[in-house]
Amino acid sequence: MEIRGATFVTSNTDVRQCPAPDRHEYAFIGRSNVGKSSLINMLTNNGKLAKTSSTPGKTRLINHFLVNNEWYLVDLPGYGYVKSSRESRKQFNALIRDYILHRENMVCLFVLVDSRHAPRAIDLEFMAWLGENGIPFAIVFTKADKLTARACRDSMAAYENVMLEQWESMPKTFLTSAESRQGREELLGYLDELNRTVDKFW
Ligand code: GTP
Ligand code: MG
Repeated sequence: MEIRGATFVTSNTDVRQCPAPDRHEYAFIGRSNVGKSSLINMLTNNGKLAKTSSTPGKTRLINHFLVNNEWYLVDLPGYGYVKSSRESRKQFNALIRDYILHRENMVCLFVLVDSRHAPRAIDLEFMAWLGENGIPFAIVFTKADKLTARACRDSMAAYENVMLEQWESMPKTFLTSAESRQGREELLGYLDELNRTVDKFW
């Protein structure tokens, strides 16, 4: 799929203030610092679209970006940001939950996990919660450039092993790097596929 343009639309702390749900959207979520904003910039060929930072907790709002004047990419705040206070963490979690459960035009949620890390409880529990609530999601492994291809494969296999203890089958998975742009075509291809499916209903 060709990206002809991407523009920032709004930042919100309240799902009710997000753009009207009259176009479909894809949201990116995952632990703080996993590379959500960087991936959005890589996909849209715009290094400055979503704000990135080496300090975790950069994205604290729900950010909507309009792509090709047709659909939205959504940059969500990271979960599990340890430095925030318990109160603000609770608020973030409520915000994320509210968005995921009530955003009717969200077609697929992309859960990002760092390729370098062994499966972590926080991510597995989050995905279990998505399953319980019937939220369609895919897994995106990030920062592949930091590992050898073999270590990436091992990392993905480790995830699969753990997940298949609880799930009947794996969700769709992607291996990406915002640095080397690995996985861009695959991910955009999948979005294109989903776009075609939802277009029929829209
Ligand atoms: P929050 O908004 O804080 O939740 O973080 P985020 O998930 O949006 O992460 P962000 O895109 O800001 O990236 C965090 C850090 O990881 C930055 O220093 C990025 O440059 C770096 N980073 C992100 N993706 C990649 C990647 O694919 N490869 C490498 N080497 N670094 C990356
Ligand atoms: Mg971010």
